[in-house]
Amino acid sequence: MGRSIHYEEKVDSTQKIAHRLATDGAVEGTVVVAEEQTLGRGRLDRRWHSPKYTGIWMSIILKPNLPMHKAPQLTLVTAVAVVQAIEDVTGLLPQIKWPNDILIDGKKVTGILTELQADADRINAIIIGIGINVNQKLEDFPEDILHTATSLSVETGQVISRAGLMQAVFARLEKLYLTYLKDGFYPIKLLWEGYALSIGKEIIARTVTGDIAGKALGITEDGVLKIQQEDGEIRHVYSADIIINE
Ligand code: BTN
Repeated sequence: MGRSIHYEEKVDSTQKIAHRLATDGAVEGTVVVAEEQTLGRGRLDRRWHSPKYTGIWMSIILKPNLPMHKAPQLTLVTAVAVVQAIEDVTGLLPQIKWPNDILIDGKKVTGILTELQADADRINAIIIGIGINVNQKLEDFPEDILHTATSLSVETGQVISRAGLMQAVFARLEKLYLTYLKDGFYPIKLLWEGYALSIGKEIIARTVTGDIAGKALGITEDGVLKIQQEDGEIRHVYSADIIINE
C-alpha cells in the first residue's frame, strides 16, 4: 500500500486521476495524493472541502478479485483502518457512523468515498477516496459545515504530521486488507461494530426513496445496515444519510 505514490500539488479530484490510472493499468496499492482539491467529491454528489496543506486528500487503488456486491465491505475495511491510524497517531478515539463517516465527539473528521470500475459482476478496480481533516483551525471550515466538522488539530490542540498519519493509514489498511482477503469479512465486521456509533440506537436513514426510522441492529455480512422498524419489520439499507436520535 502506498509503494507507488502520485503526488500532486493541486488537482480537481484525486478520485478522477486515480480512475484514469486504474484504467491505464496502475498496480494495486497505487495512491494519488494532493495538497489541494478544487472539486473534491463527497458521497451523494456533495462537494468535499479540501483546502491547501491542511488535510490528507488521497485516493487508493485496489484490485481485489471479487464480485461487485463485496465492494461495500472494502469501504468498511478502510473505515476501520483509518480509525486505527488516527488512534495510533493522536490517541483520540474516533467512532464510525455507518457507512463510513469517522467522527470525534459527534463531529466529522474523515469521509470515505468508494467508487468502482467493474466488468459484468467482477471488480476491476476499486478507488477508495479518503479525506481527513488534519490541521484546519475551526475558522477554516466553511459556514455550512462549521458545526458538524472538526479536525485532528482542533481535537488535540496540536499540529499533526500529515505524512506520519498517511503512513499509519497505509500500514493499518495493508494489514486489514490482507486479513480480509485471507479470512473474509467476519473479523473486520467485529472490529467495525466495536467502533460503530449508531448500533443499538434509534435512527432515521434518509434514503433516496424516503426515510426509514427504527433501531439500528448492526450490519450484514455484506456491510449493509439492518434497521428494525417499530412494527418489527427489518429493513436493509444500502445507501443513506443517518440521523441518530440521541
Ligand atoms: C464523504 O462524503 O464523506 C466522502 C468524502 C471523500 C473525500 C475524499 S478527499 C480525496 C478523494 N478525492 C475526492 O474527490 N474525494 C475523496
